[in-house]
Amino acid sequence: MIRTAVIPVAGLGTRFLPATKAIPKEMIPIIDKPTIQYIVEEALDSGIEHIIFITGRNKSAIANHFDYHPELESHLKETNKMDELKGVRELVSRARFSFVRQNEPKGLGHAVLCARHLIGKDESFAVMLGDDVIDAEVPALRQMMDVHEEKQVPVLALQKVSHQDVSKYGVVAGEYISESLLKVSGLVEKPKPADAPSDLAIIGRYILSYKVFRFIEETNADGTGEIQLTNALSQYHDIYGLLFMGKRYDAGNKLDYLRATVELALKREEFREPFTAYLKNLLK
Ligand code: G1P
Repeated sequence: MIRTAVIPVAGLGTRFLPATKAIPKEMIPIIDKPTIQYIVEEALDSGIEHIIFITGRNKSAIANHFDYHPELESHLKETNKMDELKGVRELVSRARFSFVRQNEPKGLGHAVLCARHLIGKDESFAVMLGDDVIDAEVPALRQMMDVHEEKQVPVLALQKVSHQDVSKYGVVAGEYISESLLKVSGLVEKPKPADAPSDLAIIGRYILSYKVFRFIEETNADGTGEIQLTNALSQYHDIYGLLFMGKRYDAGNKLDYLRATVELALKREEFREPFTAYLKNLLK
């Protein structure tokens, strides 16, 4: 059973400047929820009970967002805003939240390593990246947990991307064992299109075993001084990739962020009709 999810949130968010100068990129909302809340809700809806944020300087808004707020709660009660009250309380009560500081900017592999003392030696756990917001009928992480429960091996989320985009991702080679499941035989972080072993990109969801911490320790930093998680994962002999069902948005990319805002708004009952009418009128 996977009960713990590690969510690295220490990044500076330079792709989203100037918005991220004074607020964490994870707190930028899509409609009315910070992007990080979409990730946490996916975890909770998948059955995760403990969330470990790997955090850094200037990220205290994230800790506040996942904590009770007595003053706000009494105000909501007094003004009879019961739905809002339920919303803010429920999010916090559904899991335990832990915070570990990553005090050196040494990459995603190093961020995951910072959670080691909170993970059991026999435990497998999830890693979820805050930029990848996934809209799916069955939460993407749940789909991966189902594969893990059956096969008892690490699982990566995969999606086919356009050939010129492979250089933005970790890319895998492997053999299909069913329509949506791949046994991974090789991994490369951000290859040039000409060197990529496939167009199958790692999307920010991973199920890993405790062993990964040793693999990360044995991984050298790359040219930029970062320890890449993808390079550490190359040491697994038995690791699977799942082409999950769902739509993924890169919330750190401004155009994709706009798409997410429009498409997720159109899915909300309260906005569907007036927002569709507005868009039709605008584009006519
Ligand atoms: C990270 C990983 C990369 C993965 C990507 C998914 O890259 O290093 O392997 O494909 O997340 O979003 P980043 O986007 O942090 O550069």
